[in-house]
Amino acid sequence: MGSAVLQWSSLSVRLVSVCLLCVSAGKQCQIRYEMADCSHLKLTQIPSDLPNNITGLDISHNQLRELGPANLTQYSQLVYLNAGYNIISKLQPDLCRNVPLLQILKLEHNELHKLPDRVFSSCTNLTELNLGYNRIDIKNDPFKNLENLNILDLSHNFLKSANLGVQQQLENLRELILNSNQITELQKEDFSFLSNTSLNSIDLSSNPLTEFHVGCLHAIGNLFGLILNNVELGENRTKKLCTELSNTAIQNLSLSHVKLSYIGKSTFQGLQGTNLTVLNLSQNSLSVIEDDSFQWLSSLQYLNLKRNNFHVSSRSFYGLSSLKYLNLIDSLNGKIEDFSFHWLYHLEYLIMDNNNFPGITANMFTGLHNLKYLSLCNCNINLQRITNKTFSSLANSSLHVLNLTKTRISTMESGAFSSLGHLKILDLGLNEISQELTGHEFKGLNNIQVIYLSYNKNVALRSESFIFVPSLRKLMLRKVGCSNLALSPSPFRPLQNLTVLDISNNNIANMKEDVFDGLHKLDILDLQHNNLDRLWKHANPGGPVLFLRSLTNLRILNLKSNGLDEIPVQVFKGLFQLKILDLGSNNLNVLPATLFDDQGSLNSLNLQKNLITSVEEKVFGPAFKSLRILEMDSNPFDCTCESIAWFAEWLNVTRAYVPGLRSQYICNTPAKYHGSLVLHFDSSACKDSAPFKLLFVITATTVMLLIFTVLIIHFEGWRVAFYWNISVNRILGFKELDIQQEEFHYDAYVIHARQDKNWVSKNFISLEKNPHFQIRFCLEERDFEAGVSEFEATVNSIKMSRKIIFVVTEHLLQDPWFLRSITLFSKLLNKDYKLYHALHLRRGMFRSRCILNWPAQKERVSAFHQQLVIALKSNSKAH
Ligand SMILES: *[C@@H]1O[C@H](CO)[C@@H](O)[C@H](O)[C@H]1NC(C)=O
Ligand SMILES: *[C@@H]1O[C@H](CO)[C@@H](O)[C@H](O)[C@H]1NC(C)=O
Ligand SMILES: *[C@@H]1O[C@H](CO)[C@@H](O)[C@H](O)[C@H]1NC(C)=O
Ligand SMILES: *[C@@H]1O[C@H](CO)[C@@H](O)[C@H](O)[C@H]1NC(C)=O
Ligand SMILES: *[C@@H]1O[C@H](CO)[C@@H](O)[C@H](O)[C@H]1NC(C)=O
Ligand SMILES: *[C@@H]1O[C@H](CO)[C@@H](O)[C@H](O)[C@H]1NC(C)=O
Ligand SMILES: *[C@@H]1O[C@H](CO)[C@@H](O)[C@H](O)[C@H]1NC(C)=O
Ligand SMILES: *[C@@H]1O[C@H](CO)[C@@H](O)[C@H](O)[C@H]1NC(C)=O
Ligand SMILES: *[C@@H]1O[C@H](CO)[C@@H](O)[C@H](O)[C@H]1NC(C)=O
Ligand SMILES: *[C@@H]1O[C@H](CO)[C@@H](O)[C@H](O)[C@H]1NC(C)=O
Repeated sequence: MGSAVLQWSSLSVRLVSVCLLCVSAGKQCQIRYEMADCSHLKLTQIPSDLPNNITGLDISHNQLRELGPANLTQYSQLVYLNAGYNIISKLQPDLCRNVPLLQILKLEHNELHKLPDRVFSSCTNLTELNLGYNRIDIKNDPFKNLENLNILDLSHNFLKSANLGVQQQLENLRELILNSNQITELQKEDFSFLSNTSLNSIDLSSNPLTEFHVGCLHAIGNLFGLILNNVELGENRTKKLCTELSNTAIQNLSLSHVKLSYIGKSTFQGLQGTNLTVLNLSQNSLSVIEDDSFQWLSSLQYLNLKRNNFHVSSRSFYGLSSLKYLNLIDSLNGKIEDFSFHWLYHLEYLIMDNNNFPGITANMFTGLHNLKYLSLCNCNINLQRITNKTFSSLANSSLHVLNLTKTRISTMESGAFSSLGHLKILDLGLNEISQELTGHEFKGLNNIQVIYLSYNKNVALRSESFIFVPSLRKLMLRKVGCSNLALSPSPFRPLQNLTVLDISNNNIANMKEDVFDGLHKLDILDLQHNNLDRLWKHANPGGPVLFLRSLTNLRILNLKSNGLDEIPVQVFKGLFQLKILDLGSNNLNVLPATLFDDQGSLNSLNLQKNLITSVEEKVFGPAFKSLRILEMDSNPFDCTCESIAWFAEWLNVTRAYVPGLRSQYICNTPAKYHGSLVLHFDSSACKDSAPFKLLFVITATTVMLLIFTVLIIHFEGWRVAFYWNISVNRILGFKELDIQQEEFHYDAYVIHARQDKNWVSKNFISLEKNPHFQIRFCLEERDFEAGVSEFEATVNSIKMSRKIIFVVTEHLLQDPWFLRSITLFSKLLNKDYKLYHALHLRRGMFRSRCILNWPAQKERVSAFHQQLVIALKSNSKAH
């Protein structure tokens, strides 16, 4: 019994190891330019079959146990060796004997404990040695030959002392990393091995240091930087530390998270006479800074006080006369006294994000003559209303950037920024601004280049909104609820230097043709997520609105999600510089030939999620010429010779990047190709098809005639009358009917499925009630004459109606006859792909303006009503 169990378990061990072998057998080292990457391969040895001339070897994340010079004999050119993240517990002496050129040796995350004598003795060319995350016991000056070493990392090693040797050594060391060890004190002689070294930085963070013995830091040749983050210093030890640093070369001191809750007048006294330029005091729960505490730091240029909790008094920053950068993010508590900053006459960057204080007072920023950048993002400081006083204390500064994002501004009064004549960038994004811009808000911003107003509540424009800021180059107005741009003259008219304009996400439904006139330098125009579809409709009263007409230098144009279903052929004429065009997520079906004739230098075209069925050379040829990215996926492609052959061939040979080419470019029709990839369309069958075309037409006509006859015989009632009606109208173009327009009782006869009766009554009757539209529908339930047969009633009603509306829903579509019928109006109960595309069965079957889609978004319903009315009132032929 017992032996059976044993056998079983040893068998399973064998199985596991076989499995591991399979896994690693499948992978191998990757070699790129003299660098071999053998990481993550579960290796137990350095492979012997790599090219001899590799200069880099990454063998990290494996299962190496031991490393000696013999293992590296083959690879004598190595400059870089990464053996980190293994289980190496043993190094052999003279490790670098066979790799004299080695400069970087990484051995972190191993199990090194005892280092053999002379282990690095030949590593004289080493500049970087990483021994972090081991358990190294330092004995006998292991690093003494490393005369070129710049960086030594011994972090996370349970070291009890910073003393790494007796003899003076490591003359070229610049960075010594000793964080996260068990060092409790710095003895006077600990650093004497560095007595001839100029250290840029020594990192002693996260050590339980409690004692700095006299002279401990003076033992180092030159000490420029000291990092002591996460060491429990408190006020007393900080003061002791500063005393130890006096008369050193210290320039950069980091004391983040050292429990320094209080800074007294003498805490930093020891630093007097040093050239300290950078001081990090972040994350200290600092609650008290005594007046004049920083008086000793006259060389300080960079002070980080992020994440504390102190009160700023008028003398808190006294003496910081060289300070250029002050970080006060999330650090202030209570009021900021007037003139607090006036000592800081060299300050250029003041960052005060994420604070709460009662407000900006009259002399808060007085004296900051050199301030260039002020950020008050996400501050809760009662800034609801910006007046001409708010920033008056900056009148003598040369502020270039003012960042007021998320400061809950709701109103800008006239002259709000008039003190900031040098300002170049004003960020007012993500606020609650709700007002009409009269123009005077920005008066005095004589050098402004960028105004960022995106994501505000309700910014209404008028013609004068930007008259005082003609120097503007970028104007961002995304999602500010400025839905009306039909202004004369256009509010953008004064902005002749504008290069970037973002008015996306505004539900804009109306603009004038001249809205962008004069913007000759405009480079980027963002118009996505608006309702511009009506403007480009052929049936728009007055014709399509060609608002892009003067943007001759436009490079990037975004028109995504605008409900566009028609594009006028002239709309992109003259836009020779266009590089990126996004027309995605619209309802485009047929694009006119020559539309893109001027877009020969287009790099990127997006037409994804439209209703495009055919991609023909006469439309897309010019646009595809120098294309680098095409996104035209998720369209119901019609994979017939005439619609797709050219495209399929282009896709097969193009070097452009076409994301989703092998998954998202799918034929919808004809049935033979339904669901297959456009790429797989066999265009060879299309060659030489011309002679057969005529035959096809003849045959098709015959078949159609036959079907028609069958229909006449088999269908009775209103369907025949109606089909007849439509056929006649298609041919005669409603001519005779239009002449006697006055005789029509109804604007339209509405055909729908019985199940949709309630929806139809609700929506159509409410449209009739709208006094602007003056429309009357003929609804079967309501308007049929009593006492007449249904057939007669239908025919009479159709005669009395100018147009016919089909409410196409799933219910109606269940009748196959409807699929072949002319569709005027489709209602989308849900976004069912099949239903949606059933309506656009084949290219050219319907004119696009005859098909109106019930909008998915509530906000577009009224725009939809408008479209419907235009369609009904227009005099066009076959509706
Ligand atoms: C180095 O060579 C020794 C002896 O051949 C071998 O045991 C060890 O696994 C080798 N180590 C590596 C990392 O290849
Ligand atoms: C390195 O060796 C490989 C073959 O082992 C050779 O193809 C390659 O040219 C060599 N590279 C250099 C820089 O000598
Ligand atoms: C260090 O590298 C140089 C070439 O960069 C080489 O000439 C020299 O011999 C190497 N040093 C040692 C001790 O091998
Ligand atoms: C200290 O280093 C300098 C060059 O960095 C060298 O000239 C000098 O001899 C060294 N002094 C000692 C005592 O090693
Ligand atoms: C700091 O030092 C002062 C006097 O030198 C002493 O009264 C105080 O208790 C010390 N604080 C701490 C936390 O050790
Ligand atoms: C501070 O810098 C000045 C000029 O750069 C220099 O003369 C002086 O020696 C430095 N002081 C210290 C303590 O390093
Ligand atoms: C600031 O606005 C007030 C009215 O709100 C006006 O009386 C005052 O003259 C303005 N001050 C400046 C400097 O424009
Ligand atoms: C303003 O600050 C926000 C938040 O930190 C940042 O996203 C934005 O880029 C800044 N604006 C400018 C102009 O620097
Ligand atoms: C527009 O830009 C030009 C060239 O950069 C500059 O000379 C001109 O002053 C600018 N116009 C305005 C109104 O700032
Ligand atoms: C695509 O190109 C390859 C060779 O470049 C050719 O063999 C193949 O027939 C082409 N396919 C189509 C659909 O044009």
